[in-house]
Parts: sequence; structure tokens; C-alpha cells
Amino acid sequence: MEELRQKYIAAIAAATDEAALEALRVQAVGKKGEVSLKMRELGKMTPEERQVAGPALNALKDEINLALTAKKVGLADVALDARLRAEWLDVTLPSRPVRRGSIHPISQVTEEVTAIFADMGFAVAEGPQVEDDWHNFDSLNIPGHHPARAEMDTFYMSRKEGDNRPPHVLRTHTSPVQIRSMLKQGAPIRIICPGRVYRCDYDQTHTPMFHQVEGLALGKDISMANLKWVLEEFFSAFFGTEVQTRFRASHFPFTEPSAEVDIQCSWEGGTVKVGEGNDWLEVLGSGMVHPKVLEAGGIDPNEWQGFAFGIGIDRLAMLKYGIPDLRAFFDSDLRWLRHYGFSPLDMPSIHGGINR
Ligand code: DAH
Repeated sequence: MEELRQKYIAAIAAATDEAALEALRVQAVGKKGEVSLKMRELGKMTPEERQVAGPALNALKDEINLALTAKKVGLADVALDARLRAEWLDVTLPSRPVRRGSIHPISQVTEEVTAIFADMGFAVAEGPQVEDDWHNFDSLNIPGHHPARAEMDTFYMSRKEGDNRPPHVLRTHTSPVQIRSMLKQGAPIRIICPGRVYRCDYDQTHTPMFHQVEGLALGKDISMANLKWVLEEFFSAFFGTEVQTRFRASHFPFTEPSAEVDIQCSWEGGTVKVGEGNDWLEVLGSGMVHPKVLEAGGIDPNEWQGFAFGIGIDRLAMLKYGIPDLRAFFDSDLRWLRHYGFSPLDMPSIHGGINR
């Protein structure tokens, strides 16, 4: 028995993997293992012999099982140590560069404009880009024969043959959102409507798709004076410097009186600087909402009045960030986007990010 003990304890100690241990287990204490066979011989012994050999064999079996388990744990530890030594990372290495997208100047400027007007109590309203004839024209006091329709270079949708209703259009301005908002919420009202608009035009300062922000404020006694204050407040916040405005009498079908608004600027070496100098740059159309437009919006013109304006967002972006060609805005050239794009963390707010 001592021979068996030494043989197996030594073999277990020398085993180098789990398979070898399992083989030893079968060989020693498996059903037909050496120790098990010895146990079967107990039956042939005298009771006295059995009293000595029985417990001794059981003790031997226990000892071998214990040795097997201990060795198994030992082997697992060795394997883990080896793995930990082989598999390692240098967590101090710099990470691989990740290409990050950027915020398009149009998105950035739209957010900036929204933040400034929100601070003055204007909510954001939206309307569809495919607009019906009535909302885009008639309701805004631009009847079918009006020259403004032709001037707008409108994109028309097509109708089925034989359908003689006027075709829908790609909205040529954000002004139809005025009507939609009036019909939806009634007066009083204080909204801006940023969004895409479309006209068939293409050169350095015109693209077939561009962006406007419409403004509308209706109340009991809202006047041109309020319009002037709101716009000067807006331009000063947007450009981060006090900006003078100049109102020039003009004509739009949907306002009476109407004014085109210029902002103060200087031209030096072919670049324009806003808020200084003696030149003027036209940036928007505005006026007091025409009574017919109020009526189309379901609002009583004897009770309510107010101003409206429309600004080109792309134009504002070009001016503020010194971007010379409008067409590049929509070329999706990655080099341009990386150069003029903004970090997603550069969140515009009235307190920061606007006055850069
Ligand atoms: N809708 C005009 C355009 O696209 C801009 C405009 C002018 C909007 C005067 C207005 C306004 O709200 O009062 O050219």
C-alpha cells in the first residue's frame, strides 16, 4: 500500500496538465483503478485483516483524491499566470485616431439664431418643404397673376395628366409658415421659422436650395419700432458687436409698410466686416403684416397687428464666418467641412459661443 501511495503521489506531483491528471485518477481510483481493485479484495480477507486494511485503503483513496484536486488547482494557477504574462496591453499608449464629423456652418448658425430669438421669447415653428400654392403664394397676398410669382424662380411639382389643380411647389420662402402658425395657434404670436427653401438659381451667392429664418410677432400694439429693436438686438448678439441697421422703404406683397434692412459694414481688401465702417449690406426683408395676410391666417386685422421678417441664414453664415462662396456649402467636400465645420461641443447659447 505504501508503494502505491508513493507511486501515485509522485506521479501526481509530476503531472504537467489536466489530461495527465485525469489518466492518473482513472488508473488509481477509477472503477478499475489499482486502489479500487485492492478494495474489492477486502472481501476475501479475514475480519481482522479487513479491520486494518479497510480504513487504510479508504485513507489512501482520500489522500490520492486530495492530491489530484490540489494539483488541478495548482495547474490552473500556473496556466492563469502564463496567460496573464502573455496577454497584456499598454494602456498608456495613445488611442488610434478616430475621424470625427463636424457640425455644418448652416446648422451652427441656425442654432445660434434660434438661441438669440428664444432669449427674446420667440418659439420655433416649422412647415413642409413641399408646399401648396395657396400657402406659398395666395395666402401671402401673391395672387396668380402677380409678378412676384415669376420672380421667384419657383420649382413646381407635377400633377397627373388631366388634374388641373395648381401644382404644389418647393416652398420659395419660409413665409408660408407664418400662415400655418396663425391658423394653428391664433394671436398673439411670437415665432421664428428656420428652414430650407428652394429657387431655381445658381451662382456664387445663389444655390437652388438655401435657408431662411422667418420671424413673426403679432399683438395688440406691436409696431415697426419693436421690429427695429428686435433686429438690432439680434444682429448685435449674433455678430458679437453693436450693429447699426438702416431701414429702406421697399415693397413685399405680404407687408405694408415694407422695409429692406441693411446692416453696417466695412469693405477692406475685398473682405467685409460687420458692425464697423460706413457701408451698408442688405440682409433681410420685413414689414408690418398685411391685413389680407392676417385674414388668410384667420386673424382679425382690426384687433391684431405685428411685424414679420425673413433673413437668409446662409448669408449670415457667410458674413460671420468669412465664407466666400455659397455653393461650397453644399458640395460635401470633406476638406471644406473640416475647415469650416464646428465641434459638437461648441454649443451656441446666448452666454457663450455666439460672441467669438
Ligand atoms: N419672403 C421674402 C423672401 O423670401 C422675405 C420676407 C420679406 C419675409 C418681408 C418677410 C417679410 O416676412 O416681411 O424674399
